[in-house]
Amino acid sequence: MDLLTAIKTRASALKIRDPAPSREHLQLILEAGARAPDHGKLAPWRFTVLQGEARHVLGELMAQSLKARNPEADADELRREQKKALRAPCIIAVAAHITPSQKVPEIEQALAVGAAAQNMLLTAHALGYGAMWKTGPAAYNPAIKTALGFTTEDHIVALIYIGSIEIAGELRAAALEDRVKWMG
Ligand SMILES: Cc1cc2nc3c(=O)[nH]c(=O)nc-3n(C[C@H](O)[C@H](O)[C@H](O)COP(=O)(O)O)c2cc1C
Repeated sequence: MDLLTAIKTRASALKIRDPAPSREHLQLILEAGARAPDHGKLAPWRFTVLQGEARHVLGELMAQSLKARNPEADADELRREQKKALRAPCIIAVAAHITPSQKVPEIEQALAVGAAAQNMLLTAHALGYGAMWKTGPAAYNPAIKTALGFTTEDHIVALIYIGSIEIAGELRAAALEDRVKWMG
């Protein structure tokens, strides 16, 4: 699939199932992430690939995080939260590791990692997989950051759920109206 077609046809998958991308395809997806523009060549991206049983650890921590936010959460809600980590056979956690720098402000480093996440979504789509970029409270939880191998100062910018498409998402129109000024 050529790049323009990938950009024009990508949509978040509504339901994702087994199988996960092959190891070779995961490597391509990760390399696409690391091809993002990178001011100062700081390579601020950090990736953790969760598959199989490793997703249960994330699910358990997500349920604990919900309990901490909402002590009233009942067993059903906690189970639902726990199962969220099983919505795809593979989750790539994408974090920004910020290097203190006079030249490259934090926001630029975080943006580079956002660009990495988009490269990964497009590559997954071009390879025929379904994916969805999520965050939610889990992304901001220090215990979850640590469990995924990041530091508590790192920013999880994406949890990319990825696998085979069970239900494809609908294509969203590009929202340009009132958002573009042509000058000159
Ligand atoms: C930084 C970021 C975080 C997001 N987090 C969530 C999320 O936690 N849950 C969710 O349903 N969508 C989330 N989204 C939006 C979806 O990934 C998706 O882009 C949106 O639903 C539009 O659908 P589309 O990708 O098919 O155009 C997030 C998007 C970004 C850029």
